[in-house]
Amino acid sequence: MINIQTTGGACGAVVSGIDLSKDLTDDIMSDLTKALYDHRCLIIKNQEITKDTYYQFAKQWGDLIRHVLDYLRMPGYPEMMAIGNTEEKDKDDAVRNGAAVWHTDGSYIEDPTTVTMLHAIKIPKTGGETLIADMVQAYESLEPSLKSKVDTLTAKHYYGRAQFDEDEHEPVPIRTKQQAETNEICEKPLVLKHPVSGHKALYAVAHSPFQINGMTEEETQGFLAQLKSHATQPRFVYAHRYEVGDILIFDTLSTMHRAKEQMDAAETPEADNARLLWRLSTKGSPLIYRK
Ligand SMILES: [Fe+2]
Repeated sequence: MINIQTTGGACGAVVSGIDLSKDLTDDIMSDLTKALYDHRCLIIKNQEITKDTYYQFAKQWGDLIRHVLDYLRMPGYPEMMAIGNTEEKDKDDAVRNGAAVWHTDGSYIEDPTTVTMLHAIKIPKTGGETLIADMVQAYESLEPSLKSKVDTLTAKHYYGRAQFDEDEHEPVPIRTKQQAETNEICEKPLVLKHPVSGHKALYAVAHSPFQINGMTEEETQGFLAQLKSHATQPRFVYAHRYEVGDILIFDTLSTMHRAKEQMDAAETPEADNARLLWRLSTKGSPLIYRK
């Protein structure tokens, strides 16, 4: 029987008593989607599933998305990405640690990512946490005057691969030639009303935005830094330490996330520091809301 309990942290709920290879009814999806929108993220425990079953599950949450960078796509499963440090591509520091900064998946696409899920296949002996920031709480706790201000603002975004400044260890978004050729700049509000739950949340205030409309570049950088610093305070952040078989799902429109720390490449897939997560992302609403 399905059991849903809060994590005890800043947000999130833990789901147990479910086998995704056989329990995917509309009633279960109704419980899961409601829990996701109430808690921002879910951790479904103890799943031993194939890639095909994982696909079937992810498709219940929306339309699967292919990442803009085709070399990140898994052979035979183009919507899936292997996140971690065990593969040839992961020898590139920027690929392996591209998610070790606060960001919002798909914020740089007109039709944004609504749900991202990470299935833990290999976990390191220590570390490897994913941090989730609750952007609904972050928005609701703003001073009234600041809340009124952000309500009216929009920002321009593009896909920015992180680079790390040697002195500051801060990401500097850049566009590679390939990204510049294939990605458009798009505009999003700084406060997003969730299309299903109706919650208002601060949206994507780090990594992809580079210009707040109506502000100078200097004002933009200062204001975004202020919002990011507010939204990522420990009181809004849940740190998930994986067990093999976990599926971490987050409401991408109402959260930001990051890998807690940068990691070294694993010498072998069996090394103590090996980390492998299967990622799938969707856009649009869960299927039960389309019926
Ligand atoms: Fe991400």
